[in-house]
Amino acid sequence: QSPLHITNEPIKPFESTSTDVLLLKKALQKYQSKALEIPLIINGEKIFKNRTFKAQVNPSNHQQVLCNYAQAEPSDVQKAIDAAMESKKAWAKMSLDERSAVFLKAADLISTKYRYDLLATTMLGQGKNVYQAEIDTIGELADFFRFNVKYAFEMYKQQPCESTKGVWNRTEYRPLEGFVYAVSPFNFTAIAGNLFAAPALLGNTCLWKPSATAVLSNYLLMEIMLEAGLPKGVVNFIPGNAEKITEQILNDKHFAALHFTGSTKVFKNLCKEIYSKDHFKEYPRIVGETGGKNFHLVHESCTLEHTVLSTLRGAFEYQGQKCSATSRLYLPESISSEFIDLFKTYLSQIKTEDCSENIKGFIGPVIHEQSFDKLANAIEEAKKDPELEIISGGQYNKSKGFFVEPTLIKTTNPNHKFLKQEFFGPLLTYYVYPNNEFAEICETIDETSDYGLTGSIFAQSRDAILLANEKLRYSAGNFYINDKSTGAVVGQQSFGGSRQSGTCDKAGSGSLLTRFVSVRSIKENF
Ligand code: SER
Repeated sequence: QSPLHITNEPIKPFESTSTDVLLLKKALQKYQSKALEIPLIINGEKIFKNRTFKAQVNPSNHQQVLCNYAQAEPSDVQKAIDAAMESKKAWAKMSLDERSAVFLKAADLISTKYRYDLLATTMLGQGKNVYQAEIDTIGELADFFRFNVKYAFEMYKQQPCESTKGVWNRTEYRPLEGFVYAVSPFNFTAIAGNLFAAPALLGNTCLWKPSATAVLSNYLLMEIMLEAGLPKGVVNFIPGNAEKITEQILNDKHFAALHFTGSTKVFKNLCKEIYSKDHFKEYPRIVGETGGKNFHLVHESCTLEHTVLSTLRGAFEYQGQKCSATSRLYLPESISSEFIDLFKTYLSQIKTEDCSENIKGFIGPVIHEQSFDKLANAIEEAKKDPELEIISGGQYNKSKGFFVEPTLIKTTNPNHKFLKQEFFGPLLTYYVYPNNEFAEICETIDETSDYGLTGSIFAQSRDAILLANEKLRYSAGNFYINDKSTGAVVGQQSFGGSRQSGTCDKAGSGSLLTRFVSVRSIKENF
């Protein structure tokens, strides 16, 4: 048992009359009243001067600029590489106790002093309602920082070597020799934090390129890290042109690891680039979490209302923009009408709205115009395709914000591309299978799973659970029985998938940490 009593950060309910709501509203106002100018942070230095700036807008109101952020130039990237290599000399020698103190303090700052600022910046910039912002920006983020400490101590304690009289064998968990490149997505501030925090805790130093649509909250997190005592240069914050920054980084021989969350396409290109080069000092570690086409498989023995509500939440919370969002559903014929009727009843109570105005609203905007257009095109395609039928939703409007209604689509083809392709938005496609073809539908799901991130079986029948568990073994790295496909909790379910969904190194686990150390065995004879 770990001597560290680390528990999950509690989530606040945000009752409408509470002080929490007042403090949150104040923070929301603060970030809406003025567009911040955001610098690069390299070697602890804030760099603004003579840089090109880009705007991050509020996806609920795209005329509102939330911040203008500096774009890293080639000289900045070089400076960040130099800073990472230089700061590593002292950081890598520091004890785990001392490095842990920084992350534990940061977790406390996140859940106390900066709670409302982090919530406000994530809600405004990334379009989350307060609950989604809490479970991400406070809960998961603080949990990653704290649980990583626990996992690191457990890893360092492992001494797989016997020492006998006259011989002293040791194992040393060295940081990698070069620097780590962390590339983070817009959808979780927590994931962005873990992409640099997991390697840095182990003595590595990082270049961090945040997503263009999450700079506001990510910059605040960077400031929190410095306030928590992260030495300058350990993490260098370099927003800017992804292709150019990446090209320059991969041309440096000290590049030692990629820690990535984002699209499958970008990750594959990065892998190709990395494998095509021959100048690195060490073999780069590649750790990536990418797309998903996550399923809910419903068996006739399921508990109907629970399954309906879980599916609604899995598919539409945060507008279906979690990597783990439920985007395909398989229903048995005998209960499909009842299921869909109930689903539509609940869905009719939900409206799409600006969740920074109505903080408890359920569905906000999608992240940007590109995503909006992709979803609108898919809806139009569904209207024309004879194998598809829109059962509910299907409206979209970008006059003020990027709003897409939660949309339920039926298909008569179990191999339809809508059951395979990731849309990353509030579209859920379902297929009705004959009750006596449960084994076959498991096989179809597996065969159509190019991705392998998350999936769920809803059943009370143990035989059905066993069959699905066996047949869908590689279709989901996170497999849920009678629970939705989203919402892994750090310290309880580590997160990540295989196939086209990534390297399955599992965020929130000790196995992830092992990817960022280079183990040295030392034998000494007396
Ligand atoms: N960890 C989140 C979930 O499980 C996704 O990143 O939904």
